[in-house]
Amino acid sequence: MDERYIKLAMAAARAAGRIQMEHFGHSHLMELKGDFNPVTEVDRLSEKTIVKMILDAFPDHDILTEETPFEGKGSSWKWIVDPLDGTTNYFHGFPFFSVSIGLEVDGEVKLGAVYIPPLDELFHAEKGKGAFLNGNRISVSGTGDLNRSFLCTGFPYDVREHVDHYLKYFKNFIVRSFAIRRPGSAAIDLSYLAAGRFDGFWELKLQPWDVAAGSLMVTEAGGKVTDFNGGPFRIYSKEILATNGLIHQQMLEVIRNVQGNQ
Ligand code: IPD
Ligand code: CA
Ligand code: CA
Repeated sequence: MDERYIKLAMAAARAAGRIQMEHFGHSHLMELKGDFNPVTEVDRLSEKTIVKMILDAFPDHDILTEETPFEGKGSSWKWIVDPLDGTTNYFHGFPFFSVSIGLEVDGEVKLGAVYIPPLDELFHAEKGKGAFLNGNRISVSGTGDLNRSFLCTGFPYDVREHVDHYLKYFKNFIVRSFAIRRPGSAAIDLSYLAAGRFDGFWELKLQPWDVAAGSLMVTEAGGKVTDFNGGPFRIYSKEILATNGLIHQQMLEVIRNVQGNQ
């Protein structure tokens, strides 16, 4: 695939990151989508910048982005953008958030970039070419025992309605793993898994823009991504299980137990 695409994804992620750092510490909640899903002016500014860069370069391409619905042009090239993943962290001044940009061609994610502005960490992956952090190749961890595994997860915004259900997964994993974190940006969770910092990740009800770039990062770093039955993962699926591959079966068994006991 032509280098222009990944270069654009990386440049746009950095450009949005610059805006986020300029406003960091003095950004305010602008509105809530539903009860708890926050949007700030920086989500929108970041999105505007990314969309402009994409459309300036590729005016015929489609875009699926979190804050603005775009009418489809019927293109087989679709950019999938989360301009700010981790908005709740961001507007609380908690420096752990990211920009996530993926490119789907004919229904398959071909490349992705995830940028973490406060740490200046830029992850990128291209299908068949591997995954990289700041230009250096990364790979998943070698942990093969769930009991020794460092896991991460997140909770959907409708947590108040289904708290018992989500906590069943958490409860069963916390007693089977070494430790769990809830970082607050799914794109970072997946990129850190790709870099071997986490061993496994599960979450329910994520959106395509949360996982498009990150899921490719994991598979290109040698990891595995499926749904909760071990079946093929689609970015439009409502469940994701991503691991280093070695603990995948063990995590699927925990999920099966949770589902069997409902
Ligand atoms: C959220 C983050 C978080 C996850 C939520 C997402 P946002 O995205 O990725 O980690 O647990 O489900 O919605 O709203 O900050 O872009
Ligand atoms: Ca998100
Ligand atoms: Ca977002």
